[in-house]
Amino acid sequence: MKQKVLVTGGTGYIGSHTIIDLLENGFEVVCVDNGINSDTYALSAIQKITGVEVPYYHIDLCDLEALSIIFKEHNDISGIIHFAALKAVGESVEKPLLYFKNNLESLINILTLSIQNHIKGFIFSSSCTVYGDVSQSPVDENTPIQEAASPYGRTKQMGEKIISDSLKHTTVNSILLRYFNPAGAHSSGILGELPINPPQNLVPVITETAIGKRDTMTVFGTDYPTRDGSCIRDYIHVEDLAHAHTLSLKFIFDGHQTQPVEVFNVGIGNGLTVLEIIHAFEKQTGVKLNYQLGPRRPGDVTAIYSDYTKAKHLLGWSPQHDVDDIMRSAWKWEQFRNEHL
Ligand code: NAD
Ligand code: WQD
Repeated sequence: MKQKVLVTGGTGYIGSHTIIDLLENGFEVVCVDNGINSDTYALSAIQKITGVEVPYYHIDLCDLEALSIIFKEHNDISGIIHFAALKAVGESVEKPLLYFKNNLESLINILTLSIQNHIKGFIFSSSCTVYGDVSQSPVDENTPIQEAASPYGRTKQMGEKIISDSLKHTTVNSILLRYFNPAGAHSSGILGELPINPPQNLVPVITETAIGKRDTMTVFGTDYPTRDGSCIRDYIHVEDLAHAHTLSLKFIFDGHQTQPVEVFNVGIGNGLTVLEIIHAFEKQTGVKLNYQLGPRRPGDVTAIYSDYTKAKHLLGWSPQHDVDDIMRSAWKWEQFRNEHL
């Protein structure tokens, strides 16, 4: 029989790509989202790509009573992948309590129901932001955690601790996935990031500029101690990231996990500068980007990229896509979006 997985934040960017990967790997999926940063377009794209109509609950995870209905209607859920959260770093600085309330209350509720319903595997969307302002890269899972640079980052640090403390004496096993910089879109070209709030991440800013939604874009900082003066990050294709979730659940379901909580970095280990990303985009698409060089953005770290040896050895995960794939798929999606949505 197929194992059933509840995906929270499933109509969002990473959640929707993960649903596809789960369905393609023999899992059954139930999706919950409150649409605060997405709409149900992703569900129709998922249906077109996989032929599966995923059951969907429009529920706020902060509403414990409403959330518990899902478990009454599906008493055979064995895994949960918890994506639902607010993720805009700048907004979290302006509205810290909104971020603490939404991200932590929803986590506490879903953990409560995971324990009550004897869920086997719980996967949490953590972030490389938990490492804070690192002085050296690559970072591995034992790199000391520094002060978070934003309330958003703190919700991820606190989220990791809340999970570790709460699951210590239960039968629920958890994996915390620390994502680096997710980017790109589904190879079909009909699914990608479709946020309600304007994107601030580099790759969507590039594609929106290229298509003319923005007149120009700025490279934030050219005086960093890097090979061309701009910041270095580890951009990971969203389809590779999605597959890491499927492998994490399998790791738990197959009985390989030996402690209640495991942490994995999910990045491709290849640090690229902002200017290198821009040039990769121009090369892959043939589109000349209108950009300007500007001052540093407050809160940015100079360089961070991952050591993913642990995920490779234990989960059998390795990236299948490079930066060129990211750029081509992101551009295909931006063009589709512009024409059809
Ligand atoms: P997203 O905004 O596209 O998806 C998150 C989804 O959660 C949205 O559809 C939103 O509507 C939903 N949501 C938020 N609060 C909710 C609530 N209280 N109840 C129900 N639904 C709620 O973001 P994403 O990029 O897909 O990120 C998914 C997860 O990965 C988040 O936890 C995010 O913090 C984490 N993460 C993202 C990145 C990134 O750069 N995209 C990097 C590291 C970690
Ligand atoms: C990447 C690089 C910018 C936009 C954020 C969160 C982090 C994680 C991933 C969730 C930086 C530069 C960007 C632009 C630019 N998310 N840039 N011009 O800041 O590495 O990480 O997303 O957990 O927590 O902080 O990603 O895509 O915003 O920026 O020059 O218009 O691109 O300065 O060097 P970041 P990003």
